[in-house]
Amino acid sequence: MRSITKEFPGVKALSDVSLSVRAGEIHAICGENGAGKSTLMKVLSGVYPYGTYEGEIVFEGEEVRFKDIKQSEQAGIVIIHQELALIPELSITENLFLGNEPGKFGVIDWTSAQLRAQDLLARVGLADDPDTQIKNIGVGKQQLVEIAKALHKDVKLLILDEPTAALNENDSQHLLDLIVGLKAKGISSIIISHKLNEIEQIADEITIIRDGKTIE
Ligand SMILES: Nc1ncnc2c1ncn2[C@@H]1O[C@H](COP(=O)(O)OP(=O)(O)O)[C@@H](O)[C@H]1O
Ligand SMILES: [Mg+2]
Repeated sequence: MRSITKEFPGVKALSDVSLSVRAGEIHAICGENGAGKSTLMKVLSGVYPYGTYEGEIVFEGEEVRFKDIKQSEQAGIVIIHQELALIPELSITENLFLGNEPGKFGVIDWTSAQLRAQDLLARVGLADDPDTQIKNIGVGKQQLVEIAKALHKDVKLLILDEPTAALNENDSQHLLDLIVGLKAKGISSIIISHKLNEIEQIADEITIIRDGKTIE
């Protein structure tokens, strides 16, 4: 990301921020509340589309101009927001494939969906019955469903916005181990975190943002 500037009415959230992430690395972003971390990641993932920010984004050697999240996901960038975007009343499997159902011509093939779900859930280490409603599993497991969902989309760069903020120590450690495991399979991650012990444990590089500017 080169010289990204993003303004909201009355607020300059980002001012000339640059961020460089190499393929295969785990890159931590830290900084105080309100520093602009989430905004930067929303620019990267097309939540704020091309034309609503200044600056340039280059992904895999080419300039990208995402007009929405769908486009960034097609390129292999998936963001998991701080407020998870799962639907509480639906099952794990239904949430996994929401909007990306396996099947043809709009007809969902539930047999292959269930096999695919088993495979994806095994990859994130979630052993619960895939028919369980999301509201009946804890936030740590919901986070794993989000990652399984990203794997279903063939993620290359996974963005996690404060993923462990609401997790207990065990769930946090499982998540961090998973991120390191994904790295071994070639999936890069950007993780926003305030927890320096976590960053020290898994990050290859760290970018610090303060007041909408890159510090270091
Ligand atoms: N949708 C929005 N509308 C207006 N102001 C926003 C919006 N999103 C973020 N901001 C402002 O931009 C700044 C950066 O916010 P944010 O990126 O959420 O920071 P961080 O994630 O580092 O806590 C803050 O001053 C925040 O109030
Ligand atoms: Mg934030």
